[in-house]
Amino acid sequence: MSQKITIKEAPIEEVVKVNATIVEFDAPYQKDYFENRYKDAERLIVVAYVDDQPAGYVVGYDKFKDGSFYCWMAGVNPSFRKLGLLKEMMDYEDKWAKEKGYNKIKAKTRNNRREMLAYLVKYGFFFTEVIQKPNINDNRVLLEKEL
Ligand SMILES: CC(C)(COP(=O)(O)OP(=O)(O)OC[C@H]1O[C@@H](n2cnc3c(N)ncnc32)[C@H](O)[C@@H]1OP(=O)(O)O)[C@@H](O)C(=O)NCCC(=O)NCCS
Repeated sequence: MSQKITIKEAPIEEVVKVNATIVEFDAPYQKDYFENRYKDAERLIVVAYVDDQPAGYVVGYDKFKDGSFYCWMAGVNPSFRKLGLLKEMMDYEDKWAKEKGYNKIKAKTRNNRREMLAYLVKYGFFFTEVIQKPNINDNRVLLEKEL
């Protein structure tokens, strides 16, 4: 039987559950950390469900107050990768942000997040800056896309 995928806005607790499954994150952020980050800003929390189980998330907020929307965090449980969940959640974010009047999506990732970089390049983001770190793997890569 095929899996049912649902993309919707959800409480941050659902993100925290998914976050605990992301093997790449050593010390996954907890609820307070998320809430503190976006507390005074418009935010969007999107969760992807597979057969009603939270399997992926994207969290963004109005970080820069310059007309752009900042895509801050994204993750998909390793058991549910390559099903298109990230793509569907980012599509949701694009549509939502455009409707809210934002003109760009900004993102920041690390050099060693290869799947995320592949997504960003394939789906229309352009590089704006690289912040150098002592280890090249940790270089921060800044990108943006017009909506
Ligand atoms: C990055 C991540 C969220 C992708 O989630 P996903 O649901 O598997 O991604 P999707 O299936 O929606 O794929 C979307 C695009 O990403 C790219 N991509 C995803 N996985 C990839 C892989 N293993 N190799 C190469 N490209 C990949 C592709 O461009 C893909 O588009 P395509 O299928 O049209 O080619 C997931 O790998 C993850 O959680 N990684 C660890 C945490 C992380 O790096 N988060 C982002 C930085 S904060």
